[in-house]
Amino acid sequence: MATPPKHDAWRVVDMINQSPPVDCSKAYDTSSLAGKTILITGGASGFGAAFARHWARHGAHLIIGDVNDGAGEELVAELRSSSSSEPTTQFITYQHCDVTSWTDQLALFKTAAASSPTRTIDAVVAGAGIVERGTANLFDLPQNLDSTSPSPPPPALQVLAVNLTGVMYTTHLALFYLPLLNPNSRGNKDSHLLLISSIAGLCPLPGQTEYTTSKHAVMGLFRALRGTAWTTKGVRVNVLAPYFVDTPLLPPAGLALLAGGAKAELEDVVDAGTRLMADEGIRGRALVVGPKMRVVDCDAHHEEEDGGVRIVEGERQKGEERRQAVWEVYGDDYERVEVFMWRYLAVLNIMRAIRGWVGFVKDFLGIFVGKRGEGRR
Ligand SMILES: NC(=O)c1ccc[n+]([C@@H]2O[C@H](COP(=O)([O-])OP(=O)(O)OC[C@H]3O[C@@H](n4cnc5c(N)ncnc54)[C@H](O)[C@@H]3O)[C@@H](O)[C@H]2O)c1
Repeated sequence: MATPPKHDAWRVVDMINQSPPVDCSKAYDTSSLAGKTILITGGASGFGAAFARHWARHGAHLIIGDVNDGAGEELVAELRSSSSSEPTTQFITYQHCDVTSWTDQLALFKTAAASSPTRTIDAVVAGAGIVERGTANLFDLPQNLDSTSPSPPPPALQVLAVNLTGVMYTTHLALFYLPLLNPNSRGNKDSHLLLISSIAGLCPLPGQTEYTTSKHAVMGLFRALRGTAWTTKGVRVNVLAPYFVDTPLLPPAGLALLAGGAKAELEDVVDAGTRLMADEGIRGRALVVGPKMRVVDCDAHHEEEDGGVRIVEGERQKGEERRQAVWEVYGDDYERVEVFMWRYLAVLNIMRAIRGWVGFVKDFLGIFVGKRGEGRR
C-alpha cells in the first residue's frame, strides 16, 4: 500500500487549488460542453477551427475572432448549417479581431458578453499564433538591406506581437470578463482559460527564435497564473503544448524538415483541449501533445521512501497495449516553493477570506436594512 504523503508546509498545491495530475489514459465526460459560451481567438483555422467544429457538435456556443475573415465566415456558415437543433438555439458567430489590437479584442469580448444566450463567457481559448517565415525578418540574422544606411533596421517583432502581446491581452480580458459574468465561478459555474503554448515552449526551436521566446513566455504566463487565477478570480487555467501538427501554420520548409518523422495529430490536440475544457475539475495542468506512442501497462508503482521515490516493478500485465499522445508536463512547480512564493500565496488566500467575510457582512446587513426599508414603505 502506498504511504500517504508527508505533511509539507512548502507544498502549496492545495492553497492554489491545483488539481491532481491528469490521467490521460482515462475517458472523460463531454456533457458539460453543452451550453458553454466559448470565445476562441485564431479560431478560423487549424486548432481553433478544429476545437470549434468539435465543441459545436457538443452544443457549445462559440464566438470566433481572427484576421482571416473569409475562413472565419465560412467556418461559421458550415457550423450553423450542421447544427442539430432546428430552429437552432446555438449561438455561433465570427468577428474580425486582430489580437495585437486591444480595441479589437475588447470589442470581441463585448460582443460575446452581450450576444451569448447565457449572457456569460464561460471559457476562452487564446489560440491565435504565427511563426517566422522566410529569412528576411529572422531575428538572429540581422542584416542591413539598405546599403545607404550604416545601421541595421529594428527587428520585426510581429511574432511576439501576436503570440505574446496578443495572448496577454486575451488573458487580461479573460480574467476581467470570466469572473464578472460568472460571479459564482468559484462555486458551481465554470470559468476556464485555455492557453496554447507549444513544444517550443518546452524546448528550443533553432531558427524560430521569436517563436520559441513567445511560447516559453506563454508557459511562464501559465505557470505564474495557475498560482493566482483561481484564488483571486475563480478562473481555472490550463495549457496545451503540442508538437508539430500539419496545419497552415507550418511553413513548407518546416514540413520538409519533418519529412519521414512522426508528427502530432490534430485529433489528439482536439482530444487534449476537449479534456481540459470539459473536465471542470482540471485546474493548473499542462498537457504536451506528441506523436502517438505505444504504451504497455505494467503494474509498476511508486513508493515514497526517505530519499525520494522508489519505483517498484511488479509482474508485467499481459493486458492490452494502448497508444497515447497526450502527457502531463511541468506538474510540480507548486509541490515545493520558496519563502517568497509561499508568503505571497498565503497573503492572497487571507485576502480572499477577508473578501468573503466582507461580502457576508454586507449581505447580512443588507437583509436587515432592506427589511427595515420595506417596513417603512
Ligand atoms: N501547428 C503546430 O504545429 C503547432 C504546434 C504547437 C503550437 N501551435 C500553436 O497553436 C496555435 C494555433 O496554430 P495552428 O497550428 O492552428 O495554426 P493556424 O495558422 O492554422 O491557425 C492560427 C490562426 O491564428 C490566426 N491569426 C494569425 N494572426 C492573428 C492575429 N493577429 N489576430 C487574430 N488571429 C490571428 C490565423 O489567421 C489563423 O486562423 C498557435 O498559437 C500556434 O503557435 C501550433
